[in-house]
Amino acid sequence: MERVEIHRVKTGIQGLDNLIQGGIPKGNVILLTGPAGSGKTIFALQFIVKGAELYGERRLC
Ligand SMILES: Nc1ncnc2c1ncn2[C@@H]1O[C@H](COP(=O)(O)OP(=O)(O)OP(=O)(O)O)[C@@H](O)[C@H]1O
Ligand SMILES: [Mg+2]
Repeated sequence: MERVEIHRVKTGIQGLDNLIQGGIPKGNVILLTGPAGSGKTIFALQFIVKGAELYGERRLC
């Protein structure tokens, strides 16, 4: 069977990226959900900051 390579976008959260085989599959839409205080805002901020800092992501699109 043909091997299809999946391009992934790192979240910048190292433990999570390791868990999900290197990042979120490129082009996927992610719904971040959870109760108050579970870390949604921290997750989003870290994604933006690490994207700019480490991966040259200068904008969100
Ligand atoms: N590095 C860290 N280590 C441990 N706890 C942290 C760290 N950074 C943030 N926190 C705490 O984790 C919690 C996550 O809060 P956050 O605001 O991200 O949750 P939220 O899911 O966005 O909540 P809400 O639904 O109320 O907006 C906060 O209590 C925060 O103080
Ligand atoms: Mg929040």
